[in-house]
Amino acid sequence: MTDVNIFVRGVAHDLNNQIMILLHALDRVLMMCPDDPDAKYAMKAAEDCAKLAGQLLPNNRERRIFQPVSLKAAVSEAAMFVRPLLPAGNRLEVDCRSDCTIDFAPFEMQQAITNLCLNAVDAMAGPGVIRLSTERSSASATISVADTGPGVPPELRERIFEPLFTTKSNKGGNGLGLALVKELVQKSGGTISVHDVLPHGAEFRISLPVFL
Ligand SMILES: Nc1ncnc2c1ncn2[C@@H]1O[C@H](COP(=O)(O)OP(=O)(O)OP(=O)(O)O)[C@@H](O)[C@H]1O
Ligand SMILES: [Mg+2]
Repeated sequence: MTDVNIFVRGVAHDLNNQIMILLHALDRVLMMCPDDPDAKYAMKAAEDCAKLAGQLLPNNRERRIFQPVSLKAAVSEAAMFVRPLLPAGNRLEVDCRSDCTIDFAPFEMQQAITNLCLNAVDAMAGPGVIRLSTERSSASATISVADTGPGVPPELRERIFEPLFTTKSNKGGNGLGLALVKELVQKSGGTISVHDVLPHGAEFRISLPVFL
């Protein structure tokens, strides 16, 4: 194991311990107030954090298994969790009429859509609209996240999916969001691409194989 791996796993291990404390505390809160929406939201976020930290631990025995989900349900649920993260002045429009079965874990869908939407927020740097939509053809399902920001300059299009590539290092960007989304999409046999939106804006399209 390299020094970086040992360090990352050490951090994940300690993070995991802190998340366990959070999970137990939230469990107690939910026992007292089972219908509290904020507590439920916090519990879901803490459970997702546990899964993320778990992915970095050496004894993570999770195997890639087929996860059939409804495109419409997975994207609608992801939208529900992203909405509260958007600043005032940013509107999220959701059009998930097209449905089919895809092989993508709902938690990973949430990770992918959250990263794309937060990038859109950064790019718009003020009021704007994010449009999240689904479309299906006979062989593939497409999830699109389009914004009204300035768009991605043509010379950066190849580079933005590289790990650690960021134009936001002075604002805390790590250049990991799109690399992670690309990895999740490829794991499910899909592709991700970036396009222009007229008159200005960027559109990220995730294309996934359709089942059944
Ligand atoms: N919607 C968008 N519009 C314009 N540029 C974008 C958009 N999304 C991503 N980019 C560009 O792609 C780069 C890489 O994005 P990525 O999500 O991988 O990293 P980041 O947002 O800089 O940092 P973080 O690790 O916090 O996500 C960004 O720094 C930005 O230059
Ligand atoms: Mg990002």
